Parts: sequence; C-alpha cells; structure tokens
Amino acid sequence: MGGMADFWIAGRAASSDDLVVVTSPLDGREVGRTANASPQQVEQAVVAAVDVAKRAAQLPASARAAALDHVSRRLGERAEEVAALITAENGKPLMWAQAEVNRAVSTFRFAAEEARRSSGELMRLDTDPAVAGRMAVVRRFPKGPILGITPFNFPLNLVAHKVAPAIAVGAPIIVKPAPATPLTSLLLGEILAETDLPAGMFSILPLPNDRAPALVADPRLPVVSFTGSGPVGAAIREAVPHKHVTLELGGNAAAVVCEDYKDLDWAAQRIALFSNYQAGQSCIAVQRVIVHSSVAEAFLPKLVEAVAALDVSKQVGPLISEAAAIRVEDWVRESGGQVLIGGQRDGAWFSPAVLTQVPPEAKVVREEVFGPVLVVSIVDSDDAAFAAVNDSQYGLQAGVFTSNVQTAFRAHAVLEVGGVIVGDVPSYRADQMPYGGVKGSGTGREGVRSAMEDYTDPRVMVLTGLTL
Ligand code: SIN
Repeated sequence: MGGMADFWIAGRAASSDDLVVVTSPLDGREVGRTANASPQQVEQAVVAAVDVAKRAAQLPASARAAALDHVSRRLGERAEEVAALITAENGKPLMWAQAEVNRAVSTFRFAAEEARRSSGELMRLDTDPAVAGRMAVVRRFPKGPILGITPFNFPLNLVAHKVAPAIAVGAPIIVKPAPATPLTSLLLGEILAETDLPAGMFSILPLPNDRAPALVADPRLPVVSFTGSGPVGAAIREAVPHKHVTLELGGNAAAVVCEDYKDLDWAAQRIALFSNYQAGQSCIAVQRVIVHSSVAEAFLPKLVEAVAALDVSKQVGPLISEAAAIRVEDWVRESGGQVLIGGQRDGAWFSPAVLTQVPPEAKVVREEVFGPVLVVSIVDSDDAAFAAVNDSQYGLQAGVFTSNVQTAFRAHAVLEVGGVIVGDVPSYRADQMPYGGVKGSGTGREGVRSAMEDYTDPRVMVLTGLTL
C-alpha cells in the first residue's frame, strides 16, 4: 500500500500502533497493513462528524457533485490498481473486481447526478374548498451523521453505496470496513481526501467487530446503515430500536425455470455462473434453482455441464477464509442431498457443488450458504415454484426464466422479495435501482436515490396567502 495512511479520521491521514496485517485468501501472503483506530481516535471522528453536520447540510449542490464526480473520475483512472487490490485482499477473480470498480465509478457518478437533480417537491394545497392560496415546498434534510458498516464481499462498491449518497445529501459519514478487507476502503479514502469536502465529512476506521456495538449505540450517530449477516443485523436492530437503521442482510436467492422457457442453455449458463461468481459470496448469488418438471430432464444435464465448464480460478475464486470453506463443506455434508458435481475443499477453495434431493430443512436450503453451492428442486407448476421461492425466511431478489409476460407479472406480484429479474438470475444489480429485501433480508433500500431518501427526512414548508 506504498505510502497509504493507516486510516482516515475527519478526512485526514491517521495511524495507530494497533497493527492489522491483511492477508490474501488466494495464498495467505501479506497484502498490506493498516491499524485499528484507538477509542480516542474513534471519539475524534465522531466529534468531527457532529461538528461539521450543519455546515455539510448547507453545502451547495455544486460542491457535493464536484466531490462525487472527482471520486468517480479518479476511481476510473486508478481502476487497474483498485481492482488488483480488491482481488488481493478479497480473493475474488480479477474479472469480478474489475466489474466492481466499474460499478463504483457509476455509483459515484449517479450520486453526483442525483445531487444536482434533487430539488424537492412543490405540492399544491388548494385542493379543498376550505383552503385557498396555500402551497407546500417539501425538501429533504439529513437526519445527521451516518455510521456505515460494510462487508467483505464487495470491499469497494458496498462502501460506495454508503459514502456516495451521504455526500450527495450533505451528511458526514463514518465507515467501519470489514476487518478482512479494509485496504480498498482506505484507498477510497485517499481519493476522497483529494476533494474539497470539509474536514469531518468522512472517516474510515478499521475496527475489530467487537468494537462496533459501541459506535452503533452512540447517540450522536442517528443513522446506522449496515450490510452484512442476518444475526448481526438483528442484533443492531435490537440494540438501537429508536435509531434509523438500514439493514442489507443475506438471502438464499432462487432462480425459477418456468414451464414455457425455451432457452435452457442460457438459463443453465447464467445459473451456473451466478451461483458461483466470487465463490458464491454475494447476497444475491443463486443458491436455489426451482425447475418446472416439464423442462427438468432437459435442463439438469445442461446445468451440470455448465458448472463443469467454469474456469475456477478466473470465475469462481476462493472463499474469504479456510474457516468459511470448512463451514460450507460441513453444510453440504450434513445436507443429506445427492451431490451431482463438486463439493471438494482444498484450503479456502471449494469446488462448485450442485445438489439434488435435499431435504427442505437442510441448512443449504434454509440458511444463507454464501458459498459456491446450488440446490436444485423440481416442482409441477410455476405457482408451486413461486411458493417454494417464498418458503424462506429471506426475500432479497429472485430470478424468473420465463418468456411469458403474464407469468412475469404474476411472479412480480406474488414473490416476497425486493426485486424480480425476468429472464435472468437474481444476481443482477444496477447501482441506481432500489436494492434491498423483505423478511430476514433486511429493512430499507439502497441504490443511490433510495439511500439518499433513507439518510434524510422530508420537511414541509407551507406557504400561505399565495396568488395561485
Ligand atoms: C450484496 O451482496 O448484497 C451486494 C450485491 C451487489 O451489489 O451486487
């Protein structure tokens, strides 16, 4: 990380002697070093965020947008270096790291565009005979400084989804990156520090997870935006019931192959790839595939063939740690299912597995696997497939392979999820679209504009005595 600061407090480089050595899941080699912020440094970051909050809320759109455009441009200019760092600390194959950088370039650009565009709303109030000459101006104002807690699986773009909307609305943010992958967020800090944003607008503080609860509970940070596992999300919600909490949690995303669907090669290839991309470590990786019985016989061999054809080092990669791979191996073994392909572990690597005849209560069906495992089930109608998708504690996104517009609308209406992707896998996210789940998959939505709404409250100004 030649020359990079240990971390960022209130836009300035800072360091401590609580050394953190980051190693690569690819081969265990050291990738770089940072340090955990001390309790005094955390306090400094919180005080700075509180101090700047009023000024930040009044920053002109031009200043917010210029900073966001700068970050977008610089990420683009440094794309190769950033992607290499993501791959080094996270282990994901370079193609996914490059895709992640491109997405972060867009996330910051969308935020700049939204910062320029958002003007509030004018609402006429003379709709009742008793009220004449009144009109409301509805504008949104930041709730206050934000705490963003981010996961290891997208070390750049899921940080971007916390930071970019915060800057867009003029709210200071403190980010606690995942302990396994802090370095990419610190590189982002380097780019943020090049902007003219006022001191205190951002801090990026590596911290061990057991120090997060104190920050979550801090009353000076009224917004907590968390992306990560279900149990941690639930603990946050319980710890601070009166705070504004956004939770982007896990899922056991399903793809449905409907009765009418003809392009089974496409479905098989997409499901094989997106069950296993970055070793299945995405909340919307395909974990369950539910196939109509009329196409199952033709589809299954194609699916197994497509999984066999994956290039494991270029398209799959290792899990984040050997411990994670051991957990996945245990879940597969305990599932009692028939393994059609894969399922072998070597250190942090786990070969893409396809399972059938898995009892519905198995963890690989019920819980979030977060690994390269796909469970196939066969049903006799599209409606039974939709019911199977809904038979889950989670509801993030679903993919529905159909060419029938009526079936697509029915799926959209009945599936209990935050998003339905028609003609493709659930593992699709455009960074401007609302993204989030229902049930155990979380509360609130990200996606630049949704997060901007999430970080702000509407405030109405009623004007009276107007000539309309
Ligand atoms: C996630 O794992 O929730 C994020 C997926 C994405 O941004 O593509």
